[in-house]
Amino acid sequence: MCGIVGYVGNSSGRVNAGHNALDVVLEGLRRLEYRGYDSAGVAVVADGRISSRKKSGKLSNLLDELEGSPLPDSLTGIGHTRWATHGGPTDRNAHPHLADDGRLAVIHNGIIENFAELKQQLLAKGVVFASETDTEVAAALLGDIFRNQLKGNTADGGLAKAMQLACQRLQGAFTLLAVHADQPDVVVAARRNSPLVVGLGEGENFLGSDVSGFIDYTRKAIELGQDQIVTITAGSVEITDFFGAPAVGKEYTVDWDPASAEKGGFSSFMEKEIHDQPDAVAQTLLGRSDLNGRLTLDELRIDPQLLKKVDKIIVLACGTAAYAGLVAKYAIENWCRIPTEVELAHEFRYRDPIVDSNTLVVSISQSGETMDTLMAVRYAREQGAITVSICNTNGSTIPRESDAVLYTHAGPEIAVASTKAFLAQITAAYLLGLYLAQLRGNIFSGQIKDVLADLGKIPAKIQKILDSATELRELARSMKDEKSVLFLGRHVGFPVALEGALKLKEIAYLHAEGFAAGELKHGPIALIDEGQPVFVVVPSPRGRESLHSKVVSNIQEIRARGARTMVIAEEGDEAVRNYAEHVFYVPETPPLLMPLLTTVPLQIFACELAAAKGYDVDQPRNLAKSVTVE
Ligand code: F6R
Repeated sequence: MCGIVGYVGNSSGRVNAGHNALDVVLEGLRRLEYRGYDSAGVAVVADGRISSRKKSGKLSNLLDELEGSPLPDSLTGIGHTRWATHGGPTDRNAHPHLADDGRLAVIHNGIIENFAELKQQLLAKGVVFASETDTEVAAALLGDIFRNQLKGNTADGGLAKAMQLACQRLQGAFTLLAVHADQPDVVVAARRNSPLVVGLGEGENFLGSDVSGFIDYTRKAIELGQDQIVTITAGSVEITDFFGAPAVGKEYTVDWDPASAEKGGFSSFMEKEIHDQPDAVAQTLLGRSDLNGRLTLDELRIDPQLLKKVDKIIVLACGTAAYAGLVAKYAIENWCRIPTEVELAHEFRYRDPIVDSNTLVVSISQSGETMDTLMAVRYAREQGAITVSICNTNGSTIPRESDAVLYTHAGPEIAVASTKAFLAQITAAYLLGLYLAQLRGNIFSGQIKDVLADLGKIPAKIQKILDSATELRELARSMKDEKSVLFLGRHVGFPVALEGALKLKEIAYLHAEGFAAGELKHGPIALIDEGQPVFVVVPSPRGRESLHSKVVSNIQEIRARGARTMVIAEEGDEAVRNYAEHVFYVPETPPLLMPLLTTVPLQIFACELAAAKGYDVDQPRNLAKSVTVE
């Protein structure tokens, strides 16, 4: 939610010569655009003043604007790509916002909760506002403190000092970046409950909402803590808290390379990420078991005795990640016999949940920054729960604030609609479930070894699905004018149905709903009329026999009422052919692991249908990749 970039390069004797701030910032915005695309804007400091451009709509609009009205070369700049909260997606509300007579520029991610009160105080002082945003209030406050309280004195901290004083008065969640014409070689940033990382260059330094903001220039990064202020120059990085006390960040090296965040010949990031899935699963499995088939989750540094005492598991997540959590519930309860609840993170902490030191809270988040999930994890920790994060983003906030983390290794996920992260999350959740079962002696080691061997075969099976999707793609294109598609599933096929529907909603803007097939007769069957398309995820006939036949009965019930059925079934399930207009087979696999396969055709279907409608599948309307506001 909002992408932020900052850059300071070296003007003399520099190691890295020739980086124009605007080029660095625009490249960063290009990579961060998935975080929000309601508007984009940049500001650079040059010739003793701030020059800025901003434009509503996608980054390409800003690039057109810059073409007609270029900015001067500079070594200091900031840039923003917006997901609108306060104020519509207009040019005026786009960031940067200026203050101090245009000598200060500020960009922001998050929400300033006390903006109305601060605005009143500033209006009373005669400040004039040009936008409806909370960001402009923060900019005006910072400008007022710098000019009137600190008298524009740059000797004693200047902008950094002003930022400290401003942050002491701001409430809410925010990352703020500021540049001032009086301090042309400095970018100052503040962070509270909103993401920000520092990139360490040689003779230049960077700031970004995440490392993709500067990955073309450096892989060395610093994680910042909560309530910290960082001041970067070309040669220094200084971190303090909001009261000026020195602080240190944690340095790390980014382990993916910029090419993995490019489309690699595919027409969209989503298409590419669907094809990345064999690798995402394989990488997430890699190095997590020994030759004897024992799980070795060394990174789960939690006292095994504590884990043995766990009597309840609560999985917390939002959206697609929550559907991965639903799959996890089936597996964990089956293998560990520990009661497992799955809850949408935003519902959890407002209902006085029963949590204690024997509760294991597993959060699942691709970004590691989802505010709802973060707040729920914090709440669970306060209640004494053990917290484990399943996360795809190294150094992000949720894993940092959890007792332990199990990283998924899906690589950067750029398309707003999650695909490869989902499969990697499910894989990691299986590993966690097996690990707990191993630790607590719930299942025999031979059984764990067998499941791990089955998991090891999944990447090749996903590849097979990807390689044989021609008919599915044709079907998707032929259905581009449908008004509604329903999805049914049972057992682990139920979360898959929910995920299939979510994908279609978010990228094809098509009414889609997922149901537990058993729920049909309790209401949803009323939706079925002549020609209604319904995808059915059919359980393996090798699993519980009754489950397969019950779903086949469900198919018959909806067909009798005119539904057109598209069935995802396991190879060898010839019986379903009689009940479906289209059957898409996935390779045989143990029933609990099936979601790693049955999800894939539904992702391909949604992506192909949305593309056939001419939509931008990577940047669907109204959405942003990481939801960093509640
Ligand atoms: C859907 C999607 C979202 C995310 C949700 C949680 O395709 O991407 O539903 O799954 O916003 O995001 P993370 O996993 O970053 O916490």
